[in-house]
Amino acid sequence: MPATTSVHGQWTTRLAFILAATGSAVGLGNIWRFPYIAGDNGGGAFVLVYLGCILLIGLPVMMAEILLGRRGRQSPINTMVTLAREEGLSRGWGMVGWIGVLAGFLILSFYSVVAGWSLSYVFKSGSGGFMGLDADGSEAMFDGLLSNPEALLAWHTIFMVMTAMVVARGVQSGLEKAVTILMPLLFVMLVVMVGYAMVEGRFIAGLEFLLYPDFSALTANAVLLAMGQAFFTLSLGMGAIMIYGSYLQSEASIARTSAAVVGADTLVAIMAGLAIFPIVLGAGLSPEQGPGLIFVTLPLSFAEMPGGLYFGTMFFVLLVFAAWTSSISIIEPAVAYLVENVGMTRVAASASIAIAAWLLGIGALLSLNVWSDYTLFNMGILDLLDYVTANILLPLGGFLIAVFVGWRMTERSVQSELRMKLGGLYQIWYFLVRFVAPIAILFVFLRAVELI
Ligand code: PHE
Repeated sequence: MPATTSVHGQWTTRLAFILAATGSAVGLGNIWRFPYIAGDNGGGAFVLVYLGCILLIGLPVMMAEILLGRRGRQSPINTMVTLAREEGLSRGWGMVGWIGVLAGFLILSFYSVVAGWSLSYVFKSGSGGFMGLDADGSEAMFDGLLSNPEALLAWHTIFMVMTAMVVARGVQSGLEKAVTILMPLLFVMLVVMVGYAMVEGRFIAGLEFLLYPDFSALTANAVLLAMGQAFFTLSLGMGAIMIYGSYLQSEASIARTSAAVVGADTLVAIMAGLAIFPIVLGAGLSPEQGPGLIFVTLPLSFAEMPGGLYFGTMFFVLLVFAAWTSSISIIEPAVAYLVENVGMTRVAASASIAIAAWLLGIGALLSLNVWSDYTLFNMGILDLLDYVTANILLPLGGFLIAVFVGWRMTERSVQSELRMKLGGLYQIWYFLVRFVAPIAILFVFLRAVELI
């Protein structure tokens, strides 16, 4: 019989889990990554494919991942080994956990660098740096940051320390409370930003850009990016949601909980797009700004907005908090593994993983300036880490999770953990996990490989 609680602890309520999982899901992926990738890939058609991936692959895989985590109640590596043994399968399934740990380490390294940009913008805004800014000035300000390795390193270091500090203390103490306050605040700020874009930007043009599908702009690579973004934004395929699921009470409904998290995450991404594109188009900027998109456009809103000094500062503070509640979930699987199998304390485990990711992050931040000539497939280290994790490792992890739950576990085990009425909704979910998710992921992979 699998354990009923994890040695690492448990959320106090189902709501706490929803907030923590939403905290993990809502992050730089929604506010930084989604708008710029949608912008680079023509908008509407990309967004449509992304929403399709969220609903048909993301939601069912999230349920599968929580199910596995709650049944295994350990780090993803040990959970997969335990559950495979329970079903009489190979220990090799532990690989799913290992892929996740690798992906988490690679993601954190660049995530912390970008969170560092956000930290730096808190102070730029707070010191009045956005006042009187025009489009050129805003671009120059962002370029100035990227070309300054010392500044990037300082912010990256601070963010990594913040992450390790929370994880070292354990997931519940402080964190639960933090997400309860911060997530609603972030939401309110986004509403304000969308309201501003509505009044001051070219809102209809922004809406059209985001929602009007021009399928001629949709390449096979854009479909891969949309799928990768769906995994990234929902924190799927690398064990973060699995380990959060391992701290979830046995009675909580996995289906309803997942739907809440996916709904909140999607809403935040769309709102971020609606806050940004009207401003981009209104200022005559191109949506194809790449990773700098929000850092170049949002300061323009704040420059003009009454109270922009305060709103701007608060917005970037909240962006940092959103990134923070995600980064802790990125290293939690690896930390839990070190505690379980190597006998490290949480403090030592958190510090070790954070230091390793910090070192790789230095490579990522140097790729923005002194190492900018070194590229592979036309990408610097930061872009490469981002591309490989989101578009290859996470979908691969998701594929294996779907195959494990859909084909290798007995349906009885699946049903006993899911505890859902065995009606139509259950049937749809099971069909999506067994057929739609794995086949779609394979298909998108094959199409994208053909391109190379
Ligand atoms: N979902 C987070 C975001 O959108 C990133 C993340 C990826 C977190 C993978 C955990 C695991 O920013």
